[in-house]
Amino acid sequence: MDIAVTAKLVRGWVEEAGQLLRESLSNTSIVVEEKSHPSDLVTEMDRFIEAFYVEKIRKEFPTHQIIGEEGSYGEVDNMDGYVWIIDPIDGTLNYVKQKRNFCSMIALYKDGVGIFSFINDVINEDIYYAIKGKGAYCNDKQLENVTTYPLGKGLVALNTKMVMLKPTLSKKIIQEALGVRLIGSAGLEMVQVITNRVSAYVTTPLNFWDVAPGIMIASELGLKCSRTDNSPIKMLEKNPIVIANENTHQDIINIMKKTSNIDV
Ligand code: IPD
Ligand code: CA
Ligand code: CA
Ligand code: CA
Repeated sequence: MDIAVTAKLVRGWVEEAGQLLRESLSNTSIVVEEKSHPSDLVTEMDRFIEAFYVEKIRKEFPTHQIIGEEGSYGEVDNMDGYVWIIDPIDGTLNYVKQKRNFCSMIALYKDGVGIFSFINDVINEDIYYAIKGKGAYCNDKQLENVTTYPLGKGLVALNTKMVMLKPTLSKKIIQEALGVRLIGSAGLEMVQVITNRVSAYVTTPLNFWDVAPGIMIASELGLKCSRTDNSPIKMLEKNPIVIANENTHQDIINIMKKTSNIDV
């Protein structure tokens, strides 16, 4: 496979999906369903965008494995060969309630290593992407490697469950930082770290499709991504993550170590 050619092809799909999502916002009859609880929603657009990507992948690369949040495209239990990871709308609750602050993500891994990855900030029409060894970009502008600085010099992002389930730990992290910002879309929170608008994103366990696209881009920029106990991210599993510049990452891991028995 020619990676540059395939990435260009996929960028076209990502642009088309973004356009479809923007157009869908004026459709007042989008079907919304509850999944596990009232804040866990799926819309017909989540399913439609995932099916849109799957159809393109199946046509071009029929032997590749596909993991999609909304689909059951066969059980994927390994990262052997080429594996596509799709989160068609990340921040579905925001898509429904705010009509903003959501993104669409697609990444390609080969034997467990990120090859390329796209996070489409649909409303701002900004496509963040990285190609392994070729850097990370926002649209056509190359992103700079993030510098390293301590937790006390930046803002942090947390997910809602982190604040709710680990309040003492969350407070300790926020107190040492300059402040906290919550968006409600793992992809967009990771974009905040990638673009150095916040210094870290710290979470309770997130699904692999929530984090795999962002991790690929972050790694390309020299950011540190690990589980909250500082062990490597586990492929295909749920991971509580810390993604940050190196100093901030270390500061957060130190807090985690000191307070590991709090909030349990
Ligand atoms: C959710 C968002 C949210 C995170 C949740 C995810 P979804 O993804 O990324 O920020 O806190 O854990 O499930 O379901 O909207 O794709
Ligand atoms: Ca979901
Ligand atoms: Ca998601
Ligand atoms: Ca989703």
